[in-house]
Amino acid sequence: MPSLTGRSLVSTDDLSGDEIVGLLKLSQRMAEAIGFGDGKGPRAPMAPLDRILAAMFYEPSTRTRLSFEAAMLRLGGQVTGFAQSTSSSAAKGESLADSVRTVSGYADAIVIRHPLEGAGRLAARSSNVPVINGGDGAHLHPTPPLTDLFLLQRRKGRIEGLRVGLLGDLRHGRTVHSLAPALARLGAEVVCIAPPQLGMPRPFLKRVAEAAGSLPPEVHRVDEVLHTLDALYVTRIQKERFEEPGGHEDVRGAYRIDRALLSKAPEAMLVMHPLPRVDEIDPAVDDDPRAVYFEQAAGGVPVRMALIAALLGLHDLPKATVSERPLKPLDAATAGDAHCENERCVTVHEPHVAPEFVTFAGDIVCAYCERPVRGGGE
Ligand code: NCD
Repeated sequence: MPSLTGRSLVSTDDLSGDEIVGLLKLSQRMAEAIGFGDGKGPRAPMAPLDRILAAMFYEPSTRTRLSFEAAMLRLGGQVTGFAQSTSSSAAKGESLADSVRTVSGYADAIVIRHPLEGAGRLAARSSNVPVINGGDGAHLHPTPPLTDLFLLQRRKGRIEGLRVGLLGDLRHGRTVHSLAPALARLGAEVVCIAPPQLGMPRPFLKRVAEAAGSLPPEVHRVDEVLHTLDALYVTRIQKERFEEPGGHEDVRGAYRIDRALLSKAPEAMLVMHPLPRVDEIDPAVDDDPRAVYFEQAAGGVPVRMALIAALLGLHDLPKATVSERPLKPLDAATAGDAHCENERCVTVHEPHVAPEFVTFAGDIVCAYCERPVRGGGE
């Protein structure tokens, strides 16, 4: 039986296609156990589970933290942690590596969110227990894609062959960086829709190309492709991640999903969003049967139950077989005495972390934040 016992989840690339689909199947079992979507609540009380999940949140969060905590509580376990860096020893100058190593002595698994890119990888390397990346700056966020795929599977009955438009701030949006390659690996077609200055960074486009055989189409306006989509995945402008303060002003209001736009969309096209939304989806659309973003968010609980249970070795993964192009291994690369040039990389801020490079989609990239060392970057 396939198993994820003892592993960490930093990137969706850490999972094979079979493992992703196995997790979706386990999520469905969890959904049935907690009565997800039927409004009746859990089928039977969960037996207490003598395991602890630590939530280390250095950045704001509603869905990720609370759905992880709810998932652990639903499994019968316990949770501990902090929701603000100011209430942790980071405020005293402790390194991230030391904090994670310490907390791994208190808990059986850790979920961590941090503003620095590559913090998830560093945390996984510093921990003695499985670490789940709950978002590392503008880099990756691998668990929303699992809930997105879970929703697509439930609503559409398949992932392979679906055409999914990713709309919004694809440059800074960590959920889409993790989702796009995962969709491509499971046989969905990805279409990138973004204002010119917010396009998907090259490394993620190349990751999609590696899985799909060609680069995904990129367009600037949603109405160019709306009629072709099975799902439209909307994201907010990540205003806190612009290099220049106020840099988001130029693109504010560049796209908006409202009733008029949806009247031109296919009847069966799902409107998804990782949430939070700001102003990119008119609340008047919430009643449209195609608007599934709150159901998508609610699915985070059974999916995270499945993930925690699998990493803790409480469940094997149900068997699944996906035909995918195998991911190219990340070979260690030498980049002379180069250091990562990304100012938001964890290696730049954590003095004891030695720079390390790997090959990723044909480029030499930082092993932590995956930013190319020189050229071919954005
Ligand atoms: C996302 C995130 O934190 O990156 N939120 C989430 O986890 N549901 C998306 C966002 O903040 O825009």
